[in-house]
Amino acid sequence: MTWQIFASSAPGLERLLADEIHGLVPVDFHTSHRPSAIEVVPGGVSFGGSTETLGHALVGLGLAARVLVRVAEFPVRHLNELEKSVARLPWSDWLRPTEPLEIRATAKKSKLFHTGAIQERVARGIQRAGGPAAATVEAVVGGQAKPTAGELASQTAGGQAGPQTNESDEASERVLDGTWEGGERVHPAVVVRIERDRCMLSLDVSGQPLHRRGYRVNPYRAPLREDLARALVIVSGWDRRQPLVDPCCGSGTVLIEAALWANRIPPGLGREFALGATALSDPAGIRAIKRQRLGWAEATVGEGRLAGFDRDPNAIAAAQLNWQQWHAQLTRVGDFDAGPGVCGGQFPTIEWEAQDVMRLAIRETPVTWVTNPPWGDRIQPSGKLVFLYQRLGELRRQSGPASRLALITLHRELAYKTGVPLGSAFLTDAGGLKVNAFVESDSATR
Ligand SMILES: C[S@@+](CC[C@H](N)C(=O)[O-])C[C@H]1O[C@@H](n2cnc3c(N)ncnc32)[C@H](O)[C@@H]1O
Repeated sequence: MTWQIFASSAPGLERLLADEIHGLVPVDFHTSHRPSAIEVVPGGVSFGGSTETLGHALVGLGLAARVLVRVAEFPVRHLNELEKSVARLPWSDWLRPTEPLEIRATAKKSKLFHTGAIQERVARGIQRAGGPAAATVEAVVGGQAKPTAGELASQTAGGQAGPQTNESDEASERVLDGTWEGGERVHPAVVVRIERDRCMLSLDVSGQPLHRRGYRVNPYRAPLREDLARALVIVSGWDRRQPLVDPCCGSGTVLIEAALWANRIPPGLGREFALGATALSDPAGIRAIKRQRLGWAEATVGEGRLAGFDRDPNAIAAAQLNWQQWHAQLTRVGDFDAGPGVCGGQFPTIEWEAQDVMRLAIRETPVTWVTNPPWGDRIQPSGKLVFLYQRLGELRRQSGPASRLALITLHRELAYKTGVPLGSAFLTDAGGLKVNAFVESDSATR
């Protein structure tokens, strides 16, 4: 069975995500499980693949926000017609009748526009076809699930997960704090999109958005989304061998993502996915994929030293906790202990130190500087920020010609204060703000 798969991404990351999908499995991997027909489309990347490909996408993609699989597409103009068409589909081949299910709907330029009614009819159609019963179907409103189909009619839908903001991300991480183990929601969702009187039905097999790796137990202040941090590391042009330093590391996301990326450690290793709660797979199947991908990690150990500094000792404490959490996750991959054997026993290390960037000394050269400095909104008055960005430029210059600087920031003018020739590698959304990832000009190819 070849599925039509869609991986959504934060804005600006689509091409990087397509590259990641191209390299998702080794070239000699079983042909039928390799992603095929990879195409950048608005909001993400579409590709073909088997159920196993889906599992690899969930566990192995670090830049995707969600992974969906298209199950049906048909014309529709009336609610009765919608329910009937849905009821004709083989839901029990895709969903387990006892598992909770979410239904999200959007409608555009169509005769059917009431998303609550659409959700209700889709829920009824699924139940008629032997899918999950009414009591286990939930509508999603503003990211929170409301129980029972009876409530569906009065709900408006939350559509497919869009870009999340730094702030909402922080809030949602806090909700997760302490509930990650066993408390996370891994329900599959049926995503209904009606556009120009055509209905497209997909299964969202992600569960929590994929950037939530599960290691960020303390997001501290203004954390960067994990997928954006990883994208910044990738566009920085880091060769995985130079030291990589984040001089304003906050809760450590850039460095943790750099360590995982450099060593090809699966970003989804420590979390669950809704795919395991569908009829397409099960948790054991996902564990097997995690184990296989860990085997690939062993072959490609990055050698670069990783170091994170922040003037705030509480930020450093948060970063250390998050990094420890990641280690802890490694030993909890289902029924196997992956810890000591990962990366041939040379698990990456990160040095953390409370230090002000103004007093930071260069310890070795060359260096790849990758950072998410304050933007000047809530964290610091903008006057001081000019000095901070100037200092970042100074450090970059002092660390020699083979060094590099990459930073993500809200204000172009601040990036230019570094005095380093920077160009935008991608423009994305964080905290509802348009932010740019700036890299040294020869790496600004996108
Ligand atoms: C936007 S946050 C970084 C967030 C981080 N990327 C994460 O995901 O958690 C900026 C960080 O810069 C730090 N910072 C501000 N001024 C600094 C300075 N002069 N020296 C070092 N760190 C500084 C702040 O304490 C804050 O943790």
